[in-house]
Amino acid sequence: MNVLIIGGGGREHALAWKIAQSPRTRHVFVAPGNAGTAADAENIDIPENDFAALIRFAKETKVELTVVGPEAPLAAGIVDAFEKEKLRIFGPTKAAAELEASKVFCKDLLRGADVPTADYHTFRDPARAIRFLREREDVPVVVKAEGLAAGKGVVVCEKREQAVEAVEQIAQEKIFGEAGNRVIIEERLHGQEVSVLAITDGRTIVTLQPAQDHKPAYDGDTGPNTGGMGAYSPTPLVGDELMHWIEEHVLVPTVHAMKRMRRPFRGVLYAGLMITNQGPKVLEYNARFGDPECQPLVMRLKTDLVDVLDAAARGELDQIGPLEWDPRPAVCVVMASEGYPGKYSKGHPIRGLDEAAALTDVKVFHAGTSLRDKQAVTSGGRVLGVTALGDSISKAKLQAYTAVKKIRWDGAWCRKDISDKAMR
Ligand code: AMP
Ligand code: GLY
Repeated sequence: MNVLIIGGGGREHALAWKIAQSPRTRHVFVAPGNAGTAADAENIDIPENDFAALIRFAKETKVELTVVGPEAPLAAGIVDAFEKEKLRIFGPTKAAAELEASKVFCKDLLRGADVPTADYHTFRDPARAIRFLREREDVPVVVKAEGLAAGKGVVVCEKREQAVEAVEQIAQEKIFGEAGNRVIIEERLHGQEVSVLAITDGRTIVTLQPAQDHKPAYDGDTGPNTGGMGAYSPTPLVGDELMHWIEEHVLVPTVHAMKRMRRPFRGVLYAGLMITNQGPKVLEYNARFGDPECQPLVMRLKTDLVDVLDAAARGELDQIGPLEWDPRPAVCVVMASEGYPGKYSKGHPIRGLDEAAALTDVKVFHAGTSLRDKQAVTSGGRVLGVTALGDSISKAKLQAYTAVKKIRWDGAWCRKDISDKAMR
């Protein structure tokens, strides 16, 4: 069959690479893609938000399955638009994607379904939010914009005045626009963060192996927040027993609650969890694969991903047996542009990609790259996700950094401690 993947980051390259290996696929298209997907699949020059053009392309090219990578088209209703045209697509509807697009919807659902999460209060009126903060004891809180803010709408606050300032910026100055129509003030949790992703058709849940992201920019989890500077899987922070607990107390009640609300969730249910002293608590849900968690996950997955995604899109996930995994861990190190997550320049030629690719058990996934006269050049903040398998986490880490050392461009940098949290 022909498969269309929507998006153009590291996650989408990983999906395209894996899907192209399936004996069931003939052509794999990526819209708009990057320099990496141009090599492993075929890029289509249509932006992810042009649903009419994407639908036209899917019909003309006889695409039998479309897979959506990023959250923005999901929140804008790409799944509803495709399904209206009787086109098969993997991802949640607009109503179900609210789980990620509205943090208020997500928190209320978690509370209603009795899923462990931080205590919280929701405010539409910034003055009331500020009064709430001033009348309470001065304890650390987290202030969140309700809507999508590219990962920036969350402020972890030590002191009351910091929280007041965050409310002012989000809800009064509207620095994230409409996303700040409502704010959430929640209890600050402590612990290790892990990502547990599952594929569901709204009834059956197929859990993927646990992964851990590294969101702060610099070593030792310091510096500004980013989209993710590296990931690895599996993580020893979540063993089999804890994984079962998470399935039973987090994933299953969430999927049931969505069904009860007549918003059946079909797609990737990604739980961002904090492992606290009182057990795992949900920080947030995403309605898609994590980036960069997707990269080590697909590198380890042995089952044909097309079988799984197609079955989920058809509502027949109960036909799929347990997933098969490479027991070896995988580590993904993100190489970024100088200045990221702030301002950065683009267009730097990337050298050494072939040397890195020649190493065993290494795959260099592209994120912010494009082609200029057949040469890969930088075009984003997160540029590459250099991913390697190894017999242990430390061996996978060593191999990933061996590959990183082969690659260079003007201003390239990365964290040096990806996966060290597993070793403690
Ligand atoms: P979110 O978009 O909700 O995942 O928040 C982004 C990041 O903010 C998370 O990855 C955490 O590092 C942090 N965070 C969010 N909520 C809390 C919380 N209740 N307590 C501590 N840290 C949090
Ligand atoms: N890796 C974090 C995210 O995809 O949201």
